Amino acid sequence: MERAFKSCRLDALSLKNSFIKTATFEGMYDDGLPNQKLLNHFVALAKGDVALSTISYGAVSPEGRTFKYQMYIHDESVQKLSEIAREVHTAGGKISIQLTHCGFFSKNTEIKKPLAPSRVFNAYGFLSGLAFSKSMSSEDMKKIKDDFANAALKLKNAGFDAVEIHMGHGYLLSQFLSPWSNKRKDQYGGSIANRARFPLEVFKNVKEKVGEDFPVLVKLNLSDGFKNGFTLEDCKYVASLLEKNACSAIVLSGGFTSKTPFYLMRGAIPLKGMIKNGSSFGEKITMALFGPLIIKKYPFKPNFFLDQAKEIRKTVGLPLVYLGGVDSKEGIEEILDAGFDFIAIGRPLIHDPNFLIKLERNEITRSGCTRCNECVVEMDRSGVRCVI
Ligand SMILES: Cc1cc2nc3c(=O)[nH]c(=O)nc-3n(C[C@H](O)[C@H](O)[C@H](O)COP(=O)(O)O)c2cc1C
Repeated sequence: MERAFKSCRLDALSLKNSFIKTATFEGMYDDGLPNQKLLNHFVALAKGDVALSTISYGAVSPEGRTFKYQMYIHDESVQKLSEIAREVHTAGGKISIQLTHCGFFSKNTEIKKPLAPSRVFNAYGFLSGLAFSKSMSSEDMKKIKDDFANAALKLKNAGFDAVEIHMGHGYLLSQFLSPWSNKRKDQYGGSIANRARFPLEVFKNVKEKVGEDFPVLVKLNLSDGFKNGFTLEDCKYVASLLEKNACSAIVLSGGFTSKTPFYLMRGAIPLKGMIKNGSSFGEKITMALFGPLIIKKYPFKPNFFLDQAKEIRKTVGLPLVYLGGVDSKEGIEEILDAGFDFIAIGRPLIHDPNFLIKLERNEITRSGCTRCNECVVEMDRSGVRCVI
């Protein structure tokens, strides 16, 4: 496992080891602006020897937010984010941010109609009056491409070391990739070459804006985890396309938040807390009545995406980040043996920001995270944390 603790590079960026803190929504904002808790959270990770930490969900525009008080990238939030970047650097770490747009997955009542590749029913937003999405026009697409590129440049200028474009988990770019949500009849729908066209245009626009040396990662689904969704074969195609276009690294994940939210993390469904967190009485009742029926449970197993991820490792040569169920020395060895370049970790680092230091010092061999997933409830309550 020592090899994972050696210094390495991601494009021109030097990293103290191969570990990445993956994006896990923090919910540490005051009126949509990063607060002191968020800064402390990332400084603790840097002090815990995480080489590169990823701040979650930086919406590229106000319309890209899933709900009203989520952070979006603009001068005021970027000023606060630059303070976090500075403090993380002082603590010896590097910092990235996930850039995203929610597409139809929105209950942000500031917008009249959420945008998506096609008109679809929005179960997440219908109680907020956002029952259907609007199919995007070419003007909408042009604006969103610019929003991604401008956000990336602002963050580069603010001292960030990398950005990650979110093409997974059922958000806008993933909605384009998935045949379930993309029913377009033009050059942006149909074959995987067509479904990948807009996400690739977004990627190229970002790359052009930030320049060759600035790392741009992409978070991409291995599969959506349901019939008629994005498949592993689709993933192979998109991964090859990203490789041809000089993507710095692909973070492999899976699942579609509006349909298979626990496919991407596995383990227990914290339904009680999710009902309590419902933002309206109607939402609480709907969740209580239908939650158990619509939220499918997936048992946890260590390295749960490894079999699928290995197929992508065989397909492309660019740096790949393994993510999903990394929780022990043994698991890390397995990932390194399979030829992955970086290892991303979520819940074990929420459980304990010193997880890596303790592994390195042989104080532990496995994380104490039980995958109760109460951290998912906490992120919407007062900020992501482990309840154990
Ligand atoms: C509390 C919580 C919040 C999450 N928020 C995000 C997010 O904002 N963006 C994202 O891409 N993935 C998010 N995820 C998924 C994680 O990035 C990761 O895919 C998942 O936790 C599996 O990795 P792990 O087994 O190392 O925890 C979240 C997961 C958790 C537990």
